[in-house]
Amino acid sequence: MMQDQIDQYTAEINAFSPANADELETFRIKFLGTKGIIKDLFEQFKTVSSEEKRTFGKVLNQFKQLAEAKHQDLQESFKSEVENSKSEIDLTLPGDNFQVGSRHPLSLVRNEIIDIFKRLGFTVAEGPEIEDDWHNFSALNFPEEHPARDMQDTFFIKKNNGKDDIALRTHTSSVQVRMMENGKPPFRAIMPGRVYRNEAISARAHCFFHQVEGLYIDENVSFADLKQTLYHFVQELYGEGTKVRFRPSYFPFTEPSAEMDVSCTICKGSGCNMCKYSGWVEILGCGMVDPNVLENCGIDSKVYTGFAFGMGMERIANLKYVIRDLRLFSENDERFLKQFQTEII
Ligand code: PHE
Repeated sequence: MMQDQIDQYTAEINAFSPANADELETFRIKFLGTKGIIKDLFEQFKTVSSEEKRTFGKVLNQFKQLAEAKHQDLQESFKSEVENSKSEIDLTLPGDNFQVGSRHPLSLVRNEIIDIFKRLGFTVAEGPEIEDDWHNFSALNFPEEHPARDMQDTFFIKKNNGKDDIALRTHTSSVQVRMMENGKPPFRAIMPGRVYRNEAISARAHCFFHQVEGLYIDENVSFADLKQTLYHFVQELYGEGTKVRFRPSYFPFTEPSAEMDVSCTICKGSGCNMCKYSGWVEILGCGMVDPNVLENCGIDSKVYTGFAFGMGMERIANLKYVIRDLRLFSENDERFLKQFQTEII
């Protein structure tokens, strides 16, 4: 009986030819493991008669040696295979290519704007994207019936009686309010960030976009300071010789208010598709901070004056890179994203 089994196992061992180290390990467990076949045969051996012990003892020991030798041989051949493949590594070959990402055009523009204003001594301030009515509207002098407070324009999270409303901020002017409330003038800061408006998504409008707003409050700040600061900004951003013009406008939180145009960055003012053949493109809104807003934020409007401005980063990027569809900024299409300069850090 035992002899038959051993013959069968011997044949199996001789024929065994594993394809990988895992198969060899299965073999080891099957024959040489603590619950393996050899252990089992030795258990059976205990029960055979003493005459048989003499012959089977020898047979069994030979069988065990066979299994051990086979395992060891195979193990060595696998080891040397691994070592051989290691010694074949050619260190002179060029390395694998790895993909380096590129900065998103909005990040490029934001970083550039921040750099320019930092050189003028502006700091960078941030605030929450979920805002209350006070910081987004009331403190900024929005009258109660102002259309921006309408459901059509703002994403309300909670709409109550105006005062308790909670909404996704519609501009980063809310960060200006927080800054003025929590600090003491002078203030000189820019506020980059994402803002939300309830617009149908198309090539020209989106329900979220990015702004950089700015605030400068001190004693004796005038409209001339506003003009010179923004003029300098534009020369840095779009190059020396870029012209600017201010058109009167209206914002609840500034008085007087203006919109600033620059000479078209694409055609330099001679007229093209981008500027609708006018030679000018609008890039930002600005104005002198309304004394009501200063008072709302606990700043003495008889001592301090200041200016504020706000621009859409998508618009600035548009004029730099000629991106005609706003949706491209948020669709993560690699064919679009890969076209922008890669910064290697
Ligand atoms: N908050 C305005 C907007 O979102 C921009 C602005 C900021 C205008 C500061 C004037 C002064 O359109």
